[in-house]
Order: sequence, then structure tokens, then C-alpha cells
Amino acid sequence: MNETIFTLHFFYVISQQTIQQIQSRIDIIEIIGEFIKLKKRGANYLGLCPFHGEKTPSFTVSPAKEIYKCFGCGRSGNTIGFLMEHEKYSYVEALKWLANKYNVEIEETAVSPEVKLQQQLADSLYILNGFAGNYFKEQLWHSEDGQANAMSYLKERGFTNPTIEKFQLGYCLPQRDAFAQTAIKAQYSTEYLVKSGLVVERDGNFYDNYRGRIIFPIHNNTGKIIGFGARVIGKADKAPKYINTPENEIYIKSKILYGSYFARQAIDRNDECLLVEGYTDVISLHQAGIENVVASGGTSLTIDQLRIIKKYTNNLTIVYDGDNAGIKAAKRGLDMALEEGLQVKLVLIPDNEDPDSYVNKVGADQFKEFVKENKKDIILFQLEISLKEVGTDSSKKAALVNEMAETIAKINKVEDFTRQQDYIKQCAELLRIEESGLVNLVNKFIREKVTKEEQKQQAASSNEYSEPSGFEQPVDDFEAATLLNKDELQERGLIKCLIEYGQKEWDEEQKVADYIFYEIDDTGLFENQELVQLFLQYKEWHEQGLEPNSKSFLYAENRMLSEAILKILDMKYELSPNWASHFDGKIPEKDALYKEETLSTLLYLKLRKIRKMIEENQRDLEKPHTMEELKILLETHKHLKDMETELTKTVGSVIIR
Ligand code: CTP
Ligand code: MN
Repeated sequence: MNETIFTLHFFYVISQQTIQQIQSRIDIIEIIGEFIKLKKRGANYLGLCPFHGEKTPSFTVSPAKEIYKCFGCGRSGNTIGFLMEHEKYSYVEALKWLANKYNVEIEETAVSPEVKLQQQLADSLYILNGFAGNYFKEQLWHSEDGQANAMSYLKERGFTNPTIEKFQLGYCLPQRDAFAQTAIKAQYSTEYLVKSGLVVERDGNFYDNYRGRIIFPIHNNTGKIIGFGARVIGKADKAPKYINTPENEIYIKSKILYGSYFARQAIDRNDECLLVEGYTDVISLHQAGIENVVASGGTSLTIDQLRIIKKYTNNLTIVYDGDNAGIKAAKRGLDMALEEGLQVKLVLIPDNEDPDSYVNKVGADQFKEFVKENKKDIILFQLEISLKEVGTDSSKKAALVNEMAETIAKINKVEDFTRQQDYIKQCAELLRIEESGLVNLVNKFIREKVTKEEQKQQAASSNEYSEPSGFEQPVDDFEAATLLNKDELQERGLIKCLIEYGQKEWDEEQKVADYIFYEIDDTGLFENQELVQLFLQYKEWHEQGLEPNSKSFLYAENRMLSEAILKILDMKYELSPNWASHFDGKIPEKDALYKEETLSTLLYLKLRKIRKMIEENQRDLEKPHTMEELKILLETHKHLKDMETELTKTVGSVIIR
């Protein structure tokens, strides 16, 4: 979530010291306890999960590990993750919230001049937009012109005062530069005025860009105004209906969903996001009490917009006008949506109405009912339309079968497997073809996709640096998979050693971490890149003298680190209170074995390295060589084999697992 698009928080770099200060004060029970009722159960605390509806509590918080996990819906994370998920904060916002709570002063480390400049520019634009938003609001509510023209129009369309206030609608006077003059007088620079799109320059004069229009402010997820949509009053005959903010540092069209600030909690609650086209659709639906709705702004969906939706829900319901070109746009976004694992449904509003006019006509209840009854899975919807177009033309039908297979193949998340099966079944039926044939076709597209991706990856990695080849997996896929799992277990074991024992004494001179870093100086040995990141980050912190522990990772800004560490700190292995009584209070002192554990893990990894070298050498041996070369290779082989035997002996005596 640290790429949260709306907040541009990467401009704030909170110092590692501050983060550590906050970390050291966090009491996860206290924080989560502010939002949900927790009861102590043995070592852990238990409550009703706030992320999915449940009647018996399965939301578990471990104060010792400072993590939570819901055994019902599977969500888990640390305190910051909780705030981010529950309150929809960005990482930095969550940290600031905690800092405020625990009275920690935030120290922001110096950032590069370019970044600083960017930050200032963005801040200036936010401030200017805030100023303009207030100004336009003032004109709508308190100017004669605003009341007579704009307010009356909004009322005519059925918007109530609370709605107009909530969405902070405004009005720009028809005079050529009423706003520009006010802003200039208030010391806003003309450069920013132009950049923000509020003002345009012509021959050295500055004019208001939104003259005589109703203003719809567009908010980011923290409620700051990033731009405006400005609508003509009444019918748009001569001028364009809307003028929108031009792209700038904070207004990035492809990443904007109008209304997301007002909708995010409702989307979460309903586990569904309605997508409409226009500003007025969003506002009218809100007014009718349907709040889980955002607008795309009438263009086709972008991948960034889909990702924003996916943060809140997997269920996207597109609500468009029946006859609309928007359907085509929706279809274009479909493949992306499937790849993102979104479940997309489509509802078409009948009788030339749009969601705004329709909800005003039939009322909230009937609107909801209509959506519920008429939403159709978009893949099947697409198929039904296409089938009508195809008619009896058999070559067109073959093309359609192909097209559907390709679409279904885009569902590539493992957890969506049953969904894919369902689609195959239903599509085969609608297309009147053999299910097994469609399965084969879908598989063909999946294989093609995988091959393409592999090629892409290979190309990318061979561009970066040339990895010594010859480490390919054995031919047998199954064998490879089990091998990999075992390796990963050992790699994970090493990271666990680092994190749990790293700061303990190895001998008089060094800590466990020092010993590990001395022994492992090449992370090329690791299969799991996530673990490599943990390893390297630990090393960096250790070298800076920071004494890292699991918390340092849990609270790292890099979401990947905190997620990776969560996998290692599995709550399953938490000792339950029953255990303690079982052992009569004498829980085996696992700590005593830390050196042995570290040693055996290291030995295993070394052994693996040797085995890889042997394999590589053997592959080399199979190529034609001169006698001299052959001799060297054979000697190497023998040497490596000896080392392997030696290591195996030691490992055999140390590995007790
Ligand atoms: N739009 C735009 N520029 C235009 C027309 C439309 O940016 N010239 C975008 C706006 O975001 C608008 C959306 O496309 O909200 C949908 O367009 P439309 O349905 O025409 O506008 P509505 O918002 O529904 O406006 P109204 O109900 O007032 O006609
Ligand atoms: Mn409309």
C-alpha cells in the first residue's frame, strides 16, 4: 500500500530513528482495542473481526509478536498494517497517527533537492486548491449570482443542501478574472495558478478557466483537493460540458476515481464497489444512501484505477447507461480486471436514463433492487452480446470461441480456479461446444501466456547481469517443486536464526549475525527473493549498528518486508496456555539450542552450494574438452565430492530436524 496514489506520501521521509521510537511504544492491544473489543484468551486476545462479518470471534491479536491474524478471513498484519487496513491510512499517515498518540516528535530526514522541490510543488498545489475550493463554495452559497444561477440549477436537479455541502460543490463567477484577482491578491503565484488549471494566461493576462460553471472538487483519499471538474449550467451547446484540471503533479487522471474519498468505507462494508461514469451519478447515489460508488470520469478504466478498487474489494459492479459507448470502455477494462482478480459485474440502466436520473426517478430502494436483480457477470454478458452478433456464421463463431478462451485464460490467480471452471462450463453451454474442447483451448492460452512471461523475464534478467547458467531445475517438475520447498524451509530457517538469535553472542568476539554474514557472503544461493531482501536489509541495519529484530521488519515502510516477516512469524507456533500446563510449567528452553540451530542451517546451505557446484561441473564435463581440461574438471569433481561427504557427515550429526 505504500504506493498509495492519492497521498504522494513518498515525499515525506520519516527518519528511521523516529520509526524506531514509535515502534518501541506501540501497544498493539491498546491500538486495536480502540477499534474493536478484545478479550484475553491465554497468551492472545480475541475479538470479532472488523474485516468480515462474523458472530463468533476468530480475530486474534498476539501482544508478544505484535501481530494480528483473523482465522476466519485470513487477514493479518501488524499495528501499522491494521491502521492502514481499517482506517485506510497510508503508511505515513498511520505512523503520524501513532506518533501523535504516543507524543513522538516526527523527524523528517533530509531528502534530495529534487524531491524537496516536488514536495513543495505538490504542497503548494494542495494549498492553492484548498483556497480555490473555499472561494468557489463561498460564491455558490453567498453570491447573488451563485444563488440565482448555480444553486437554483443544483436544486432543480434535486440536490439537497447537505449533499451540496458534503461534496463541497462550488461556483465560479462569470466575470473574466474574479477568482484570478482574488488569488493574486492573496499572494498566490501566477505560475501555480496556471499549473493548477484554475487560471489561464493569454497575452500576459490571467483569466478564470471555469467562468460561470459549477465546480466539483475532486479529492484524494485523505480528503485533499487535487483538482476540479467544472460543469456548464444547463445544456452545453457551445462550450464543452465539463472542463477538467489538466494533468499536473497531483492530478494524474489515470489514477483518479471520483468519489473514492467519500466511498471507501462503504465499499469496504459492502464488499462491493459500484462504478458509474459521472460526477452527478456519484452524488445522486450518495444522496439516495448508496455510498459505495465511484466514477471513472467517462473514460475507459485504467489498471491504476482497478488497483485502487482492489484495495477495498474484489467485487466491481459497473453501472452504465444502456445504450452507451461506456459499455465498450468497460469491456476494454475487462481483461485487466480479470488479471487483477476482480469479479466484474455489469448492470445497464434502461430507458435512456443514467444512474443519476434513474435513482431520482425510481428512488433508492428500487434502484438497489434493480442493480441486484440485473447485474450480470461481464464475461457471460459479453458472450451473450457477441452470440447475437455472430448468428449462424461458423467462422465468426470459431473466432468467438477463441476469444472467450483467451479471456477465461486471463483468470490466473490460484484462488480463482473454481471460478475459471465455472466460466468454462457456462461458456461451453452458451456456445454449444464440448466442455473438454474449451478446457483444452483455455489451457493452450495459459501455456502461451506462461511461455511469454518466462521469455520476458529471461530477457529482463539477462539484461541486468549475466547469472552463471547451469543452475536449471531438474527435469522432473514434481521433484523440482519438492526440492525447492525443502530449500526454502532451510532458507527461512536461516532468516529465523538471524532475526531471533542475530544479536546473541556467538563467541567472545562476535554475534550470531556476524558469524552468519561471514559464512554467507553470496545470496545467490537463496531461491526465495523475498528472503534475500530480508537478509540484505538485516545486514544493512546490523552494519549500521541498529540491532534489528522482528519488529524492525514488521514496521518497515517496505510492505514486502513486513509481509515477508509475517510469513516467518507464524502465529500457529505460538505456545498456547494449555501447552504450559501440559509441560507442567517446564517449557523446553529452545533458546539453549540457538547455536546448534544456526550451525545446522548454515551447513545445509553450504552443502547445497557444493551440490550445485557438482551439478554444474558435471554439466561441463558432458561437453567436448581437451584432455587437459578434462583432467582439471575431474579433479574438481573429486574435490567437491570429498567436501560433500565431509559436510554430509557433519550435517548428519548436527541436523536433528
Ligand atoms: N466528462 C468530461 N468532459 C466532458 C463530458 C464528460 O470530463 N466534456 C466526464 C465527466 O467526468 C462526467 C463524465 O464524463 O462526469 C460523464 O459524462 P456525462 O454523463 O455527460 O456527465 P454527467 O456527470 O452525467 O453530467 P450531467 O448528469 O450533469 O449531464
Ligand atoms: Mn448525467
